[in-house]
Amino acid sequence: MNIVVLGAQWGDEGKGKIVDLLTPNFSVVGRYQGGHNAGHTVYVRGQKYVLHLIPSGILHPGVSCLIGNGVVVDPAALFAEIDMLAGLGIDVEGRLFISDRAHLILPYHRELDVLSEARRGERKIGTTSRGIGPAYEDKIGRRGVRLSDLHDAAGLVELVRENVHARNQIIRDTHLDWQDVHATLVAQGQRMLRWAVDGSLFLHQAMREGRRVLFEGAQGTMLDIDHGTYPFVTSSNASVGGVCTGLGVPPQAIGGVLGVAKAYATRVGEGPFVTELHDALGERLRETGHEYGASTGRPRRCGWYDAVAVRYAARVNGIGALALTKLDVLDGLETINVAVAYRVDGRQVDEFPSALPAGATIEPVYESWPGWTTPTKGATQYDQLPAAAQRYIARLEEVSGVPVGLVSTGSDRDETIIRADRPLAGWISR
Ligand code: GDP
Ligand code: IMO
Ligand code: MG
Repeated sequence: MNIVVLGAQWGDEGKGKIVDLLTPNFSVVGRYQGGHNAGHTVYVRGQKYVLHLIPSGILHPGVSCLIGNGVVVDPAALFAEIDMLAGLGIDVEGRLFISDRAHLILPYHRELDVLSEARRGERKIGTTSRGIGPAYEDKIGRRGVRLSDLHDAAGLVELVRENVHARNQIIRDTHLDWQDVHATLVAQGQRMLRWAVDGSLFLHQAMREGRRVLFEGAQGTMLDIDHGTYPFVTSSNASVGGVCTGLGVPPQAIGGVLGVAKAYATRVGEGPFVTELHDALGERLRETGHEYGASTGRPRRCGWYDAVAVRYAARVNGIGALALTKLDVLDGLETINVAVAYRVDGRQVDEFPSALPAGATIEPVYESWPGWTTPTKGATQYDQLPAAAQRYIARLEEVSGVPVGLVSTGSDRDETIIRADRPLAGWISR
């Protein structure tokens, strides 16, 4: 069975660890959206790998990794990642594939991203300044450059000339020569095109041969361009719909949806975060959980588990099981809060609101649960967990409306519990 692994919160839920861990059950791992704004961390026996563009299955020899048409690819970032992997003894040759329909991030998209943020001033989004938004703008504006365009250096001239002209109209204090951008792209094509495939056809052939595929999401549902906290979102569909559009597979190809959620919550960048902690507890979560961006190093905002948001993510994506990560970070806390509803202008609201009236106040409605003193760190069996931790997880299942099929108790592959009596165990054995 093919499964999707996607973020059920604001990104950085630990998707990289989970994808790496589950990969031995699959033949292909495909990324369906986002770009190198993502930072997916994998630890294997103490060695840290941070993947931005390449699917987090790449550490397993023999597994094919596909960057789908829905991903925006910065060739320079891709090469840097391939070289980083090579330096750590991981060879991608013959196993890395990129959809030739994928759009490219051009050298000046990053400048446009930074400029757009500066112009927004106080309303800034807090992007990763990787040029993600501007590259998707060009895609939707039907002037983007796709990997397949690099096959034809002459045909590319017009496209690049028009795009660079538009850039020069927006950024007037520096002038970019289209010839330079063209030459860069042609040179990048010479290195990249050997990985180009028809991504949809590639996956269909794999599936026809009975090979199993894991679809890897980047960011999280609350950062989805349609379903997230717009405009404080990324520019792609991080939720399940992105799988079909971003890889060219039908919905029937998806057998199960695994949502990844931390046992608390974090967000990086601007935008609403109802359960955010501005006090010493927030600081403690950040330090214990090493909550600093894997891509940008920015400190992440930290807060309590927001069941309203996870319930919403479960509805939007059809999440059939949750992977609950970073339980160990809560070790030693006296009391743990969970938001089960919101209070908007004093009135209780159970569903995640699509928008709030200007000036409205929103507050979490908390339940408090006793913490535990026996560490969960490194636990590999559910019954090793202290009773209070088991009670906490059981309550999260109830208020989130989804069974917890996997509990992660540390960053290493081995620090994981897969629960035999929950859906995920069945998905990966079929
Ligand atoms: P992703 O973007 O969803 O892949 O998540 P990130 O890699 O950006 O951030 C998750 C961070 O938490 C990484 O540093 C992981 O190594 C780490 N991590 C994942 N699972 C666990 C866990 O169960 N416990 C602890 N302490 N760290 C974890
Ligand atoms: P992974 O895959 C957390 C956030 C940025 C910003 C907003 C828009 O590692 O979970 P963008 O550069 O995409 O235009 O920024 O989205 N953001 C992420 N936050 N994890 C990520 O990826 C993110 N990718 C983007 O901080 O708020
Ligand atoms: Mg991340």
